[in-house]
Amino acid sequence: MLKINDINVYYGNIHALKGVSLEIHPGEIVTLIGANGAGKSTLLKTISGLLKPKTGEILFEGEHVAGKVPQLIVKRGISHVPEGRRVFANMSVEENLELGAFLRKDKKAISEDFEKVYGLFPRLFERRRQLSGTLSGGEQQMLAMGRALMARPRLLLLDEPSMGLAPLLVKTIFRIIEEINQSGTTILLVEQNANMALSIASRAYVIETGKIVATGTAAELGQSDQIRQAYLGGH
Ligand SMILES: Nc1ncnc2c1ncn2[C@@H]1O[C@H](COP(=O)(O)OP(=O)(O)O)[C@@H](O)[C@H]1O
Ligand SMILES: [Mg+2]
Repeated sequence: MLKINDINVYYGNIHALKGVSLEIHPGEIVTLIGANGAGKSTLLKTISGLLKPKTGEILFEGEHVAGKVPQLIVKRGISHVPEGRRVFANMSVEENLELGAFLRKDKKAISEDFEKVYGLFPRLFERRRQLSGTLSGGEQQMLAMGRALMARPRLLLLDEPSMGLAPLLVKTIFRIIEEINQSGTTILLVEQNANMALSIASRAYVIETGKIVATGTAAELGQSDQIRQAYLGGH
């Protein structure tokens, strides 16, 4: 579904992604784990067209998309939930969700997707008229995910959805990520919470200072001593 071949991404002189290659098959949850500053967000931003790789290629369903504008990439079927869940604080929950569908014209399917999103996140339905800035952190994360789903993506990019949330909410968010996947959406999940991420992923990549240093099934990586020492608290 997604094939990244040897991309190099820079911020000025800073070489942020160094020859990264990665692939995602339809239906998978793939997780990308790594420490703060490793390049996880940079990779998601490059896939969604916010950054352009200097070299290398990105193929989505066989089409070259590296360097294409974000709107086109959303139209092709990739949605990105950025780190820090940027919702439009002065707009209602419902207006934020409508924005997620702004490139679509299929009114009937859009209203079906409203139902689906409200089914996944009943809390958003209860608060649909409320200003988004008044939501809790967990509710804003749900809204950011709901807004991304309103584009009806086939591939969903999630950047640290559990960041800053209480443990119970983290569990809820991960359960919903699994539900979204089971309803047919492929997922690339970026996390610092490696234990939780490996528990729902089929495969994983580990990134360190801009380079992929390990990959395998989630079970393999979860059992690797080296990975456990570095990312799983050594347990
Ligand atoms: N806008 C930027 N300008 C310059 N350097 C950046 C910018 N954003 C990120 N970086 C640098 O790129 C590297 C990777 O950052 P990032 O992708 O945000 O890491 P992660 O998401 O894994 O924490 C870091 O060294 C970071 O300081
Ligand atoms: Mg990040």
